[in-house]
Amino acid sequence: MGAELEPREELLGLVRSLTEQIRVDRELGKPLSHLSRENPGGAAPSVFEPALSAEASGGETSALEAVREAMADCRRCPLGALCHNLVFGEGNPRAELLFVGEAPGADEDAQGRPFVGRAGQLLTKIIVAMGLKREEVYICNILKCRPPGNRNPLPDEITACEPFLIRQIEAIRPRVICALGSFAAHTLLKSEAPITALRGRFHAYQGIPLMPTYHPAYLLRNAGAKKQVWEDVQAIMKRLHEGE
Ligand code: URA
Repeated sequence: MGAELEPREELLGLVRSLTEQIRVDRELGKPLSHLSRENPGGAAPSVFEPALSAEASGGETSALEAVREAMADCRRCPLGALCHNLVFGEGNPRAELLFVGEAPGADEDAQGRPFVGRAGQLLTKIIVAMGLKREEVYICNILKCRPPGNRNPLPDEITACEPFLIRQIEAIRPRVICALGSFAAHTLLKSEAPITALRGRFHAYQGIPLMPTYHPAYLLRNAGAKKQVWEDVQAIMKRLHEGE
């Protein structure tokens, strides 16, 4: 924790993620427009590129469904064969606020729904305290399948699953993302900085304001951190109310 990645390791990680992304894009029938003749400079594609956008797919719901269908009975990493249910995510496909957690636990694995165990009940309370309903936001995880014994996600599992999260975010197009815990923050921000240093201020994920905060499971063990989470979610609400 805290140490920056070695440049070679970082480059290898980037190449692996890009390769996975390209493979998923192929499965989704998404053209590699950043390499096409229309874009000879080869600039990186915008996160809101049309192929899976609301306009092209007939709505956020079908864009999300396309991502879910592309995952199918996923076996891109060993977790697919070990879990009972793939936990894709749930909520409003047009949510302004997206919560991204780490990975399903036992309750989520049994029900196929994110954040339904003890940590999930606390997350629901946080959402309600923000003046929102759970159905109004969207909730998903970095990993869609439960790691055995709730162990931490492995780098290869994150690499295999991340392209689907990227496409989910593109389909939903939230105004704000809240990264719950260090795995979500590190994966989305490509940072290794500790969550204590990342939380409390907005970062950007593909131009979308992203607030990292403590994971609700951490709050269950460290009630003293609730105050900081409350500050973080208040900042999110302020941002969401701006420009209303
Ligand atoms: N913890 C997570 O990170 N995600 C869930 O869905 C449940 C617990």
